[in-house]
Amino acid sequence: MAQQGWHAVLPQATHDEDAMRGFVYVLKTHLQAKVIGGNATVYRKLVEPEFKKKNGRSPKDRHEVRNEMVRQPYYQMYSAMQKNLQMISQDAVGDSIYRQLPEMIGNFRKMAKKPKGSLKLDPGLEVPRYLSAVDIHYSPGSYFAETTDDDVTAGARYDSGFYLYVMGALGRYNENMGVSGVHWLKEHHPNLKPKRILELGCTAGNSLTPYVDAYPGAEVHGIDIGAPCLRYGHARAESMGKAIHFSQQNAEHTDFPDGHFDLIVSHILLHETSRKAIYAIMKECHRLLKPGGMVIHLEAALRYAEMDPYDAFIRDWSTHNNAEPFWGAVKEMDLVDPALKAGFKPQNVIQSYTPLVTGTDYLMDTGRGNKAAGPKQFIYGGIKA
Ligand SMILES: C[S@@+](CC[C@H](N)C(=O)[O-])C[C@H]1O[C@@H](n2cnc3c(N)ncnc32)[C@H](O)[C@@H]1O
Repeated sequence: MAQQGWHAVLPQATHDEDAMRGFVYVLKTHLQAKVIGGNATVYRKLVEPEFKKKNGRSPKDRHEVRNEMVRQPYYQMYSAMQKNLQMISQDAVGDSIYRQLPEMIGNFRKMAKKPKGSLKLDPGLEVPRYLSAVDIHYSPGSYFAETTDDDVTAGARYDSGFYLYVMGALGRYNENMGVSGVHWLKEHHPNLKPKRILELGCTAGNSLTPYVDAYPGAEVHGIDIGAPCLRYGHARAESMGKAIHFSQQNAEHTDFPDGHFDLIVSHILLHETSRKAIYAIMKECHRLLKPGGMVIHLEAALRYAEMDPYDAFIRDWSTHNNAEPFWGAVKEMDLVDPALKAGFKPQNVIQSYTPLVTGTDYLMDTGRGNKAAGPKQFIYGGIKA
């Protein structure tokens, strides 16, 4: 795995910490290459024929596949290994962060002294229940816990943890989802020249920097619920020489004026919210956009209705095992309705795909050679009339 791109708040790994990350990398590669595929064999040779004998048909969706597969010892073994791997990954990055936290906070304070961008925090901001109810990805303290003054832990955990999770496939700066969004915009809306850009749920700002580079002169904003993510993102952006204005706000109701933005983006935000929140977020996006402005939300995996039930089941592992309870539901939700209710006209609702600018399907192979999905991003949004 290539070395993660350096910036002033990136936690550095010692030899032993690096060896632990190497172990995660090797075990994950092994699971993807040698173990996950066995589930497909168990399903095709054992589970599906048995189901057919009993019901006169094949399982119709991921739920029916799951009901049978969770009883299979092979799947139990695979799933337990995958879950342990997630927990080990958290330790593998956590050790470097806790060891260097005072130094990282010091670097945050240094970077915040003469900033090109800005940071505005709101300690009174309420954390929505869909974030407070679980530690998403089993990341201790989730995106928002404050363990000390000027804490940057959650941002550092996301940056290092995500890099390890995707095994570097999203670029040395975890930037390729943003690169994919820019790629789609340049291809489909080449005349778009946004003066103000906003990312919702920006975490460490890793997907936002490609928009700074692609639209020079634009005023770029990123909001998130978690203050430790925003502090980290701010220091990271300053260290990389990118002017970004970070503020702690809820994407369902921000304090920006009506019609303030030409372009609103998000990357893998929606699946960590809720059905109700998606309605509120689309309404807020419509309010914040200028006439002619556009919102695009990039989400990681394809719509389950377009997949074979087995592939949907195996890609749905995170719903049940990685503390991402909305992961599956959003892939089955009617997303046109929230856009229409928000005020977007039917002909202006966007549902599209873009190739993910990376060579591999970083999320989870289906065990059938990546043929079922491939590295694509789903794009959902709308253009304000
Ligand atoms: C998976 S992370 C997004 C990652 C990041 N955008 C990237 O490209 O890698 C989801 C982020 O959305 C934030 N978030 C979730 N709900 C939110 C809301 N209602 N308002 C603002 N941020 C929210 C979380 O705090 C978290 O940082």
